[in-house]
Amino acid sequence: MEFKNIIVEIKDKVGIVKINRPDALNALNTETLGELRKAMHSLAFENDTVKVIVLTGEGKAFVAGADISEMKDMSGFEAREFSLLGQKVFNFIATQEKPVIAAVNGFALGGGCELALACDIRVASDKAKLGQPEVNLGVIPGFAGTQRLSRLAGVAKAKELIFTGDMIDAQTAHSIGLINQVVPADQLMTTCMDLANKIASKGPAAVKLAKTVINKGIQADLSTGSSYEAEAFGLCFSTGEPKEGMTAFLEKRKPNWS
Ligand code: CAA
Repeated sequence: MEFKNIIVEIKDKVGIVKINRPDALNALNTETLGELRKAMHSLAFENDTVKVIVLTGEGKAFVAGADISEMKDMSGFEAREFSLLGQKVFNFIATQEKPVIAAVNGFALGGGCELALACDIRVASDKAKLGQPEVNLGVIPGFAGTQRLSRLAGVAKAKELIFTGDMIDAQTAHSIGLINQVVPADQLMTTCMDLANKIASKGPAAVKLAKTVINKGIQADLSTGSSYEAEAFGLCFSTGEPKEGMTAFLEKRKPNWS
């Protein structure tokens, strides 16, 4: 896959997507959002070998937000379209079934923080800085940050971060549940690849169904969410994976999912 602003690499069962506009701190313009959508779609649906996706940025930023130079002269209608485009791309990342790990290598601000929020797991370098600084520019988050941040870190923390526009360091982000794990910068990709390979070694259908059930259940009441779980639990058995996983356990060997 050849793109202008994105690099895609496949290492065994892991797809690595790197936003590559370091001169603009990987800011997301319309073109980059389009390429991100294509890359993620291809890894999600056109490559069966890839089981887990790692998303990161080139240089000192993960993504420093939506592209301010592109947004500056937008009309209200164009800004709404831009917001809907970003939401659609991020929603695809969040809802397609393969797990996505954000390797937050540096600034994850505005649309960049929202992109990390759309991923399933966030691992940050100890040099990363996160925040929703949109109010400094006279706007609000537009790629679903008002929604995903409050669901993940709680309404009070989300309001504090979004109202003040403050940047927080990776440790603070970890303490409010925004980041799963903080690691030294030089260990970020190894940690993410180890995590990705570990997940990729598990029952592939089980992992996909677990992601879908968690995502759907979080938006439902406990009873509805539990019934999604029971349906998906049953569905696992139609894939043949439980037969292999349980037989392997009893035969004291590793499962062969193929
Ligand atoms: N859009 C476009 N260009 C950006 C950018 C962005 N979001 N963030 C940084 N850049 C560009 C800078 O303009 C600069 O370009 P030039 O070299 O051509 O001048 C280059 O990237 C390097 O940036 P800095 O010189 O500012 O680097 P720094 O290390 O001094 O500061 C920073 C780093 C604190 C991240 C600072 O760049 C910054 O504050 N960036 C903006 C962050 C921001 O406000 N993000 C939210 C955008 S709005 C949004 O995302 C809305 C939404 O939800 C949809």
